[in-house]
Amino acid sequence: MPQIQSDALVFFGATGDLAHKKIFPALQALVKRGSLNIPIIGVAKAGWNLDQLKARAKDSLEQHGGLDPIAWDKLSSLLRYVDGDYNDPATFSALRTALGNAQHPAHYLAIPPSLFEEVVDQLVKSGCSKGGRMIVEKPFGHDLASAQELDRILLAAFPESSIFRIDHYLAKGPVQNMVSFRFSNSFLEPLWNREHIESIQITMAEDFGVQGRGAFYDQNGTVRDVVQNHLFQLLCNLAMESPARKDAESIRDEKVKVLKAISPIGNEDIVRGQFQGYLDEKGVAPNSNTETFVALRLEIQSWRWAGVPVYIRAGKNLPVTCTEVITRFHCPPVTKFTPEGLPQDYIRFRVNPDMTIAMGVSVAGAEQNSPRELAELVASRQPTAEQMEPYELVLTDALCGDSSIFARQDYVEEAWRIVDPILDASLPVFPYAPGTWGPKDAKAFAPPRGWVNPVVDANGKTAKPPHA
Ligand code: BG6
Repeated sequence: MPQIQSDALVFFGATGDLAHKKIFPALQALVKRGSLNIPIIGVAKAGWNLDQLKARAKDSLEQHGGLDPIAWDKLSSLLRYVDGDYNDPATFSALRTALGNAQHPAHYLAIPPSLFEEVVDQLVKSGCSKGGRMIVEKPFGHDLASAQELDRILLAAFPESSIFRIDHYLAKGPVQNMVSFRFSNSFLEPLWNREHIESIQITMAEDFGVQGRGAFYDQNGTVRDVVQNHLFQLLCNLAMESPARKDAESIRDEKVKVLKAISPIGNEDIVRGQFQGYLDEKGVAPNSNTETFVALRLEIQSWRWAGVPVYIRAGKNLPVTCTEVITRFHCPPVTKFTPEGLPQDYIRFRVNPDMTIAMGVSVAGAEQNSPRELAELVASRQPTAEQMEPYELVLTDALCGDSSIFARQDYVEEAWRIVDPILDASLPVFPYAPGTWGPKDAKAFAPPRGWVNPVVDANGKTAKPPHA
């Protein structure tokens, strides 16, 4: 059934950081493609007027990707601005007026979750929520209980089908490619299970710190910031069964099933780290115990995956910026022909900064009688200029009502259920030097045959196959 197209986009937090870094550039790109021609109403409490918002938008475009004069003229003509307190009914009557004849506005909350309740309440009271959609940014709560509370707030005004929870990782081409690679290659299916796969490891490394987001980060930490959402989504893409149909619910059903098969993570299955210097970051509590690095272990207890250990590692101020998944196959049996210690086959999915899908295989060395070596069969494509950036894609899909790349509430709750025990702030956190692979305890806590540290060249691209 065709979905209704939203006829206005309202974004709360218009003067904030997210709008500056991501939303204005995405809006300009959509206007440039000719796919956005509705009023765009920024709302904030800054004491600004429309000209000031436009100046901010212009600055955002100049700093993030460049200003396109023709697209900017058009975008500028679509922009409106409402200034006021989120708990003041006058702000929302002004919004209702700015909405004009719009019947199906999409409201995008690019604001701290603590403000959601009053904004949603005022949207309902002012009639602005009627016929509309709600787009929200992670974090969706800070644990299971708060996620359920947040859902209660949103459901009071919008049905689940009109709520779009952004996880921008799902809008990355390489993340989507994992699914298409798995289900478009029939050779993979017989191998993709506990009979053949020995372990799975996922690394999300970033070579920068908290980048001025100390106050936000300190309330969250790595598990909440990227593991519970982005990295679990990668895991689901890797582990889920083929959806019965192409629609959003069929796809999301399969992802939820993966999470349902994972038990809550115990304290013995996690190592937390904090980079040295973190406590000096602005906004960070002087004695903060928040993790900026985590390595954890879990298992998907399903027929396909039971017994295959899954290791996830993520952190700030690591040696490179790269997100990569390695699935290692069991070694061949030791026979009189195949000696012990052969290189181990693997499949590698790199999803950031470039897209790589590669298969590591064992081949004879170049010299006669030299030991077997690992070679990579690489299928790699760079994103092309026509491909949408994640925020373009999430806005496009939310405005036309396609939920496929948004997190459903049951998924969000399952993900919190799994990490809830390790959110305990009193768990030990070990220091590590910036530019290293986390605390030394994380090295000991490793997949069979160790972690594969992604290798990246000066351009941020795959430099050489990792030793797997
Ligand atoms: C965000 C996290 O969701 O994702 C950040 O809050 C992280 O801490 C970012 O740096 C990574 O996303 P990307 O697209 O830059 O890899």
